[in-house]
Amino acid sequence: MMNFEKLSKIYFSPSGTTEKIVNEVAKNFNMNRENYDLLSFDESKTFTDELVIIGIPVFDGRIPKLACKRLSKIKGTDTKAIVVLNYGNINYGDALLELVELLKENDFHIVGVATTVSQHSQFNEVGSNRPDASDMERINEFSRKVIEKLNSNTQNEIFVSGYKPFPDYKTPDFSVLCDENLCIECMDCVYTCPEEAISELTPTETNLDDCTRCTTCINVCPENARSFGGDTYQSELENAISNSLERNEVEFFL
Ligand SMILES: Cc1cc2nc3c(=O)[nH]c(=O)nc-3n(C[C@H](O)[C@H](O)[C@H](O)COP(=O)(O)O)c2cc1C
Ligand code: SF4
Ligand code: SF4
Repeated sequence: MMNFEKLSKIYFSPSGTTEKIVNEVAKNFNMNRENYDLLSFDESKTFTDELVIIGIPVFDGRIPKLACKRLSKIKGTDTKAIVVLNYGNINYGDALLELVELLKENDFHIVGVATTVSQHSQFNEVGSNRPDASDMERINEFSRKVIEKLNSNTQNEIFVSGYKPFPDYKTPDFSVLCDENLCIECMDCVYTCPEEAISELTPTETNLDDCTRCTTCINVCPENARSFGGDTYQSELENAISNSLERNEVEFFL
């Protein structure tokens, strides 16, 4: 394979499935690794002599606004990139085009894109327990195809479909709740919320105007005190279930 100094994993993964898939792809490459977790990494950086894997989830048919902002500061120099777009078995909307365009603009040379399916982080009944063993097999098949491509030094440009202008960002009407009886005021949610929507003074409350319902705090809370709820949650859950009756599979673009 071409000589790469190292493998850099760049991901935004509030509930951990995107990171898990990026790690599965990375296992196929025997190189030193570095991690850039966009939930906290907010710096300008240029990646040059390395191979990068970039993993981003779909939020309402777009790439998450904050991930987009942080990715915009990350540049390549015709740097080879493997791209994972991860979604919750409903659809990935125009996020695929949005992500691929952004990375091309930032001078990454995309060698392969996989759209992968994971448990829906807002509605765990959708895509439950994915990625499963069959997803992981497909993800490893994708990785092997990317390696073949890198070995043969194939130089093609990858095109994906989507519509522009991209739809507006949406925030659901449902809430993030916190059970005061369970909260031990450890402040983990306060320090990991990427939108600074939880204050140290009242960690059981969430500023719903700033909150994007990203799931980070729910996943980080050691007491399982935080959850989605509120008036519209049940009806949104039912909509999500009825929009995802069929199992979507991992797709490759090479
Ligand atoms: C705010 C938000 C919006 C989402 N919108 C979509 C969507 O439009 N389509 C979809 O299939 N999944 C959607 N999902 C599900 C996530 O894309 C999916 O669960 C993904 O695995 C989350 O990645 P993570 O585990 O790395 O956080 C959404 C999740 C969140 C939190
Ligand atoms: S408060 Fe909202 S934005 Fe902050 S981590 Fe929780 S879900 Fe994400
Ligand atoms: S992470 Fe959980 S226990 Fe810790 S302050 Fe937040 S809600 Fe309370």
